[in-house]
Amino acid sequence: MMKSVFIGCGAYLPQRKVSNDELAAKVDTSDDWIVARTGISSRHIAADGEMTSDLAHAAAVTALSSAGMAASELDLIVLATATPDQTFPATATKVQARLGVPGIPAFDVQAVCSGFIYALAVADNFIKAAQARNVLVIGAETFSRILDWEDRTTCVLFGDGAGAVVLRAEDEVAGTGRRSDSRGIMSTHLHADGRHHDMLYVDGGPSSTGTAGVIQMRGKEVFRHAVSNLAAVVTEALEANDLAPGDINWLVPHQANQRIIDHTARKLKMPREKVVLTVAEHGNTSAASVPLALNAAVSDGRIKQGDVILMEAMGGGFTWGSVLARW
Ligand code: ACO
Repeated sequence: MMKSVFIGCGAYLPQRKVSNDELAAKVDTSDDWIVARTGISSRHIAADGEMTSDLAHAAAVTALSSAGMAASELDLIVLATATPDQTFPATATKVQARLGVPGIPAFDVQAVCSGFIYALAVADNFIKAAQARNVLVIGAETFSRILDWEDRTTCVLFGDGAGAVVLRAEDEVAGTGRRSDSRGIMSTHLHADGRHHDMLYVDGGPSSTGTAGVIQMRGKEVFRHAVSNLAAVVTEALEANDLAPGDINWLVPHQANQRIIDHTARKLKMPREKVVLTVAEHGNTSAASVPLALNAAVSDGRIKQGDVILMEAMGGGFTWGSVLARW
């Protein structure tokens, strides 16, 4: 059986950083309100003309460099985004062209904030099925393009960015089982419940309005579902791997709201020091948030080879899921 081992990661954030005070000069909000309700202090916003594929490509280049791998060694690119450059082609194909690796499969995965978790699960299954050996998985978003900048209930929450990882197929050491010390993805769990599609959606699209649209959200209900779905999915991951909360070295959650993250950490009985947090500086970057957080903790040396990490996310759809791995 093949196992998907993380061999590199990278990230890119647009240069422009927008503070809560800057937003408060445009809409009726305040730094105090945003920090108290969400934990967000600032977010990065893409420059005019800077597209999701630009962010994704920059993250991909740093991930390949940290993996010590040439793009020519890749045999699959999976890119998670809800904000593609265009309706089609897939943003993954634009990144592929810039990396100069024609011929290999490249496609987008759309699961909004859970997109990176979904993309990792897809890549892991390609590796387990022996259909790919070296896979680039990217989460990239420009949510600033689908925000109503006059709607204070949504525009303060989101930001732009991209993160990427490189996975390599390695032989699972025979007979080691789920509690093995071998590195790589131990489990993926994905869920969706389309009955709630109207709690968090974009009011445009090619087959409805013909425009890109802006985010609409019933925040309180989304919050309630996020808290219960994420608690369920972390429990599911632990049980499937016969692990206790204390076996997890790092929780790398989707960075939507500090209060949602605190709730999930409490469920896992994890102290804040073991939770990777970037929500204060990045806001919610949707599919980019988990790889951005992962890259932050790998780059500064908190996540070390052999650490057990639990990644989780929930987003529009609703979709939610987890990836448990040994780094
Ligand atoms: N600044 C100041 N006041 C505001 C703002 C703002 N930016 N936004 C809303 N308010 C006001 C509301 O109008 C309301 O005023 P009222 O009482 O006079 O009517 C008041 O603040 C309270 O609003 P609520 O919506 O009840 O505030 P709540 O405590 O639920 O916090 C929030 C809102 C932060 C959006 C919260 O519901 C939330 O985080 N929900 C989850 C949303 C989310 O994370 N979505 C991302 C995608 S899904 C995911 O990633 C998990």
